[in-house]
Amino acid sequence: MTTTSGKEIILGVTGSIAAYKACEVASLLVKRGVRVTPVLTCSAQKLVGPASFEGITGNQAVTDMFDSGQNQEIEHIAAATRADLFLVAPATANVLAKAAQGLADDWLSTTLLATRAPILFAPAMNTNMYGHPATQANIATLSDRGCHFVGPDSGTLACKTVGAGRMSEPACIVERSMRLLENSDDLKGRHVLLTSGGNHEPIDPVRYIGNSSSGKMGFAVAEEALRRGAKVTVISGPAEVAPPVGCKVIPVQTAQEMCDAALLIAPGADVVIGVAAVADYRVEHPMTEKHKRNGNDLTLTLTQNPDILAAVGAQKKNGQITVGFAAETGDLVENAQAKLSKKNLNLVVANQVGVSDSGFGSDTVRAIFVDASGAVEELSLQSKGDLAHSLFDRITAILA
Ligand code: PMT
Repeated sequence: MTTTSGKEIILGVTGSIAAYKACEVASLLVKRGVRVTPVLTCSAQKLVGPASFEGITGNQAVTDMFDSGQNQEIEHIAAATRADLFLVAPATANVLAKAAQGLADDWLSTTLLATRAPILFAPAMNTNMYGHPATQANIATLSDRGCHFVGPDSGTLACKTVGAGRMSEPACIVERSMRLLENSDDLKGRHVLLTSGGNHEPIDPVRYIGNSSSGKMGFAVAEEALRRGAKVTVISGPAEVAPPVGCKVIPVQTAQEMCDAALLIAPGADVVIGVAAVADYRVEHPMTEKHKRNGNDLTLTLTQNPDILAAVGAQKKNGQITVGFAAETGDLVENAQAKLSKKNLNLVVANQVGVSDSGFGSDTVRAIFVDASGAVEELSLQSKGDLAHSLFDRITAILA
């Protein structure tokens, strides 16, 4: 029996075209041993029927505040109290606005207001609606109140536009739900600082030297730290994905900017994690004008950038934990051990790069933990979220 078996989730389904995917969310949750109470708004019922959810979950779907034969006015308080997690998937701009304002005009919004369970929203909407300042302000308000968000993803939307707004994949929503059900706040009161993404080192005003770090690993680490109750600051170089809602993001371009920010913030952090693929070199003298092709070869002189984690490690205070990632194509353990001592780290996460299922841009990762006591643990292929979860299990053990 897992720690999440027998727990109860209210699954709120609102009127987005992604409502049909909520059936898969319900099904995956049931398979994980969770009791699911489906709640469909009127708009959701235009897109997907309650019978599907009742068949999948074995529980009556709530469709109306005043259904005859059901004492729903009272039941919503009982359910709000009983629930271990309130998941809204898909969550439209409308339900986010109502929740942010505290409006309570149907079963779902009323119960959202009454519950003290953790709340997880999986937004799904048109890109412009998602990017609208009103929606972003509502998300910020809810996030400040401690609500959690998974997604949205980017891609082609039902309205044929391309951009952020697609609901996260059901498996991803379920993973996030399970972690919230585990109900850990073992980093409450702690400040986690991390570097994430890559760097752009300018050659001239329009060209740069960079790498293909997507930010996925760094943001997965940030998300897990948030879930465990930490205050999270991410110094982020250019990234392909959006940071999780709820962390403070300091955007930078170059390694020097990343280093300056890290050295400023690190003294106040309990945990510092270097996930960024830091540019080891920069162009010594970037050109101030755009370089014109002139028939000659171009030689650039590169000079070393500072080693950010080594600088943080050199000023490490008592009790502070520093963790490095090591992107390696071979000799993972040996390379990690060398970095551990050179940068005065507590732990190194050596991850395999140069293969399709692990490394830059991938959703999964092959990693080995190497710690300062000499312990080595090889992990199976897993999602970056799962790696972040295991990483913080180790970090909290060291902190304790
Ligand atoms: O963003 P993704 O697409 O998800 O990819 C994730 C990742 C592959 C970038 C990530 O998992 C990873 O391995 N990051 C570290 C990559 C790296 O640059 O490793 P490294 O061996 O060069 O550096 C070792 C450690 O020192 C790292 O923690 C790095 O952040 C840090 N470092 C390195 C150089 C430098 N000048 N300053 C540093 O702080």
